[in-house]
Amino acid sequence: MFRVTRQYRFAASHRLHSPELSDEENRQIYGKCNNPYGHGHNYVLDVSARGPVAQETGWAVDVRVLDKLVSCQVLQAFDHRNLNEDAAAFASIPPTTENLAFEICRRLKRNWKEVFPGEWPKLEKVRIAETARNIFEVRADEVE
Ligand code: NI
Repeated sequence: MFRVTRQYRFAASHRLHSPELSDEENRQIYGKCNNPYGHGHNYVLDVSARGPVAQETGWAVDVRVLDKLVSCQVLQAFDHRNLNEDAAAFASIPPTTENLAFEICRRLKRNWKEVFPGEWPKLEKVRIAETARNIFEVRADEVE
């Protein structure tokens, strides 16, 4: 069994703001990240899949197929977007990188079988580096 990780990059802006909290609470909790004008990140996304090595190809994962899925479901949706304004997923929850990782994982899981109809490979995890020091990782089997 192999684990194969493919790396993607995208840029997006966000403002950390929770509709569940008052403006004052938002300012206290999120500090400068609550600035109404938002700020940007150059996100580095690692998508990992696992599977046995196929005898015919010698590959565990056809990364071209993975690229197509990530391009359609993630990059087109989030690259050069404002996450608060352009992504329906963040209409009522703050676009933290935890929530972004959940949303990306959900999108990949939802569409996985269309591009990988066989038993393998399976989506293993999604990892997003928001900055060099802030890295968020979620396992696909922990996401509904
Ligand atoms: Ni931020």
